[in-house]
Amino acid sequence: MHFGVIGAGQMGAGIAQVAAQSGFTVTVQDVKDEFLARGQATIEKSLARLHEKGRLTETPADVLSRIRFTTDLQDFAGCDLVVEAVVENEAVKADLFRQLGQIVKPEGILASNTSSIPITSLATASGRPERFIGMHFMNPVPLMALVEVIRGYSTSDETARRVTDAARAMGKTPIECNDFPGFVSNRLLMPMLNEAIQCVMEGVAEPEAIDGIMKLGMNHPMGPLTLADFIGLDTCLSIMEVLHRGLGDDKYRPSPLLRKMVQAGLLGRKSGRGFYSY
Ligand code: CAA
Ligand code: NAD
Repeated sequence: MHFGVIGAGQMGAGIAQVAAQSGFTVTVQDVKDEFLARGQATIEKSLARLHEKGRLTETPADVLSRIRFTTDLQDFAGCDLVVEAVVENEAVKADLFRQLGQIVKPEGILASNTSSIPITSLATASGRPERFIGMHFMNPVPLMALVEVIRGYSTSDETARRVTDAARAMGKTPIECNDFPGFVSNRLLMPMLNEAIQCVMEGVAEPEAIDGIMKLGMNHPMGPLTLADFIGLDTCLSIMEVLHRGLGDDKYRPSPLLRKMVQAGLLGRKSGRGFYSY
């Protein structure tokens, strides 16, 4: 299997790593060499941690040797499956899929790791809607079991089968759902994170208290504000906007504090500051 990943951010790096760990040949693309270098460093750090714990069957160098880094989209021509993991912006993703539909061999499958953007609309942009699907990995990819598989309006059974097989080969558990805003995962998760942010804005409690209550009281592994910082506040805002627009209900209105923090460049862990400092 020749596996392609677009975007070497936290999700793209994780997806590339897990694909390489399962023996696939992997090509990763990003717009600048410095972003590729950052992605490679993330992969190296994660592989070292897994190796230390005895959770890798090979050396980190063996896994890395199967990953090729590039800034050229033409390198995806021979890929069997390409997963896109760039910023959560519909125009950027649609433009990429328009190009990939022309570049990747006709039998190749195109997939998006989008958190919320309509799969059917990206599928149309790709010009190969039968061979298009949502392949939604969870963060951190090397540790999380789920891949949410989202069928677009025209996704073929064969495409769904090949993608669920690939997810299983990567050691993940695929679960299918249909194409509605936020799918299942973020339709349920994101309103909770947004409400936690609204609690901060209204002075219901300090961030540490909100996180402590949800960790100790509900057995969540991370409190909602820690998790929002971990996901990226820009990504959280984009997802809330898709839910609000797509479902047309004000219960999905992004918290004004979330919007203001993103405007201020406080994106969470990836920018060094969000509800906490890193
Ligand atoms: N690679 C390899 N190993 C890693 C790692 C990584 N990226 N991150 C953590 N680890 C390892 C640690 O070394 C540690 O190993 P040991 O237990 O063997 O010592 C283990 O994983 C646990 O890590 P920590 O002790 O640092 O922290 P933790 O116990 O809190 O676990 C966690 C970390 C698994 C991330 C846990 O906090 C968790 O499950 N958090 C919630 C994550 C979550 O909800 N993800 C979904 C986000 S939403 C999404 O992804 C969809 C979307 O579209 C936004
Ligand atoms: P990120 O900001 O960490 O990384 C995005 C990467 O995409 C950056 O390296 C950027 O340089 C690159 N990029 C931007 N435009 C590009 C283009 N035109 N071509 C190639 N590369 C480009 O973001 P992330 O958290 O990895 O999220 C990526 C995608 O995965 C988003 O759609 C997001 O909604 C989704 N997602 C995120 C999470 C999460 O917890 N962060 C979980 C599941 C899914």
